[in-house]
Amino acid sequence: MASTMKKPSKTAELVCAARAGHTLHEKNPIYSDPLAIELCRGFWKWVAQYRSLNRFMMNIALKKISPIIPEIIVRAKFCREVFDDYARNGLKQFVILGAGYDSLPYGDEFPTDIKVFEIDLAVTQTEKLARLTPINKNNLPHICYLPADLSVESLEKVLGNSEFDFSKKALLSWFGVTYYIPKEGYLNTLRFVKEHLAPGSAIIFDFLLPPDDIPGEWKIVAEKCGDFVAIRGEPWINRMNESDIMADLDELGFKNPKIFLPDLIEQEFVNSDFEFPHVMGFCLASLPE
Ligand SMILES: C[S@@+](CC[C@H](N)C(=O)[O-])C[C@H]1O[C@@H](n2cnc3c(N)ncnc32)[C@H](O)[C@@H]1O
Repeated sequence: MASTMKKPSKTAELVCAARAGHTLHEKNPIYSDPLAIELCRGFWKWVAQYRSLNRFMMNIALKKISPIIPEIIVRAKFCREVFDDYARNGLKQFVILGAGYDSLPYGDEFPTDIKVFEIDLAVTQTEKLARLTPINKNNLPHICYLPADLSVESLEKVLGNSEFDFSKKALLSWFGVTYYIPKEGYLNTLRFVKEHLAPGSAIIFDFLLPPDDIPGEWKIVAEKCGDFVAIRGEPWINRMNESDIMADLDELGFKNPKIFLPDLIEQEFVNSDFEFPHVMGFCLASLPE
């Protein structure tokens, strides 16, 4: 079924504001995204920008759902660390699925010999380009915009109609998406990676745990967050635990995928000021070289 989103993604707006707020106000930030504030607009820009409004929203107005926000920050850090690792090892193609207002490829330090392919619904992508224009980042030669509705268009076709080179290794970033799409759509993306991408390619994504795998005190946070995004037209519909993911990846032929559950994420990616929500996890699934 085609996407019903008629307006730019609200969840993309929220996660961008979360990265901006973290960068501007966190005493001991674990991730810095100085461009995020440039990509925020309207009410959420105020929330990200003004410390007292930010505190009010996090501690009072959004108290029930704000514990999920560290996931947004940590996944950006995880993505950058995996990207840096692949970049050091000769990566030349980086694909962002459901890119929203991600700013990683726009930073001054980004290696511009890596070609970036951003895929998102046309309505969100058009809005992102409008927001990039005032900071002169709407026409960077290393970034290609591929508007597509991935619920009805195949990645093979979308990338096949672009400068993407199927013979070269690629890293695909897929954050903030897998829980919004049907399981079959999720499996189709993994199948595409396995069947069409060059050896050594990889996909990284975050996933939402099923209620039975969420510890007691986090269940209510997960429920409230689910209600929050559903009211905004982007309900969570796909939940998976470690064994579901491992079984699917194994069946598809991925070798030695790495799954990061909340305990491991806390050990590897955060400092002691930070509490990672025990609601989501990360996965790095790669193809042998
Ligand atoms: C929660 S945002 C994630 C943004 C960003 N990747 C991040 O992690 O901050 C989800 C993104 O997926 C995009 N999206 C939703 N449905 C889509 C579809 N059917 N095809 C392509 N993109 C879609 C939305 O427009 C939005 O930008």
